[in-house]
Amino acid sequence: MVNTGVMLCGVRLDNPIIAASGCFGYGEEFSRLYDLDVLGSFSFKGTTVAPRDGNPAPRIADAPDGMINSVGLQNPGSQAVRDELLPKMAGYFHKPVMANICGSSVGDYAALAEIFGVQEQVGWLEVNISCPNVKCGGMSFGADPAAAAAVTKACREKTDKPIIMKLTPNAGSVTDVAKACEAAGADALSLINTVQAMRIDLRRRAPVLANVKGGLSGPAVLPIALRCVWDVYESVKIPLVGMGGVSTPADVIEMMLAGATAVEVGAANLVDPFACPKIIDGLPAKMEELGINSLSDIVGAAHG
Ligand code: FUM
Repeated sequence: MVNTGVMLCGVRLDNPIIAASGCFGYGEEFSRLYDLDVLGSFSFKGTTVAPRDGNPAPRIADAPDGMINSVGLQNPGSQAVRDELLPKMAGYFHKPVMANICGSSVGDYAALAEIFGVQEQVGWLEVNISCPNVKCGGMSFGADPAAAAAVTKACREKTDKPIIMKLTPNAGSVTDVAKACEAAGADALSLINTVQAMRIDLRRRAPVLANVKGGLSGPAVLPIALRCVWDVYESVKIPLVGMGGVSTPADVIEMMLAGATAVEVGAANLVDPFACPKIIDGLPAKMEELGINSLSDIVGAAHG
C-alpha cells in the first residue's frame, strides 16, 4: 500500500492536500458536503484584525482556464474567528488547521500572530503577504524582501507555532523574498498566491472588475506556480507548500517533484466542491501508476 503521509514543520498530514485559503471559507459550507477530516488540512480565509466587507462588486471575472478575483479580504475579523468560528470548527474538523492572517501594517501581523499563535486548533500560521486586492499591506509586503522580512520577524517574536510565509508571484524576484523570509525566521513558505490580472468589458469599454485588477487563479497559473516552486526550492532550505492551479492527482505529484512538501488546492474547490476528496481518493492509483511508494520521497526529485 502506498504512503500519502507527509510532515509539514513537525506536524503530520495524512495526505499533502490542504484546501487553500480564500476558496474554502472557514470550512463550514464544505463540512455539510463531506467529512473534512479526509483533508490533510485547510487554510482558513485570510483574516484581518478588524472585520472587512471587501471590495465593491463585480469582484469576479472569468478567464481562460481560470478566474480573476478581487474579493478584498472579506472576513469577519480576528475576534469573531477566534471566539465564534474556531469553536464551531472544532465540531467539524478534528485536525490542526492553518490560520491565514493578513494585515495592513507590521503591527497588524504581530497582533494576529499573537492571537492565533496560541489557539490549540491552529497547527501553522500562514502569513499572507501576497494578497493583490488591498490598498494597504497584503502584496506590498510580499513584493519587497525587506518588508517581507520585517513581517516574518514580527510574527516570529509572537509565536512558537510554525510560520509559513505566503509569497506572491508578482514580486520582482520571488527568490529574494523567499530568502529574506527564511533568514528572518520563517519555518516554511507557501506559493503562489494569485497572479495580478484584469479583463475588459468590450461593450462598456471598461474594466470588468470594479477594482480594475484582481488575481488570476485556476489551471492557467499551474505552470507559473511550478516555475516559482522550482526556483524557490533551489534558493532556500525550508519546506515549501506549493499551490496554483492544482486540480488533479497528477498536478499534486508534479508540484511535489518541483519541490513542494504539501500542496494547496484553491480554485478547483469553486468548480467542484468535491475537488479535494476526489484528488485525495485518486492519489494512491496515480502513485502506483508512477511507481511511487511514498509521497515524501519525491519532494524536489525533479531537481536531480
Ligand atoms: O482578495 C482576497 O480576498 C484575496 C486574498 C488573497 O489572494 O490572499
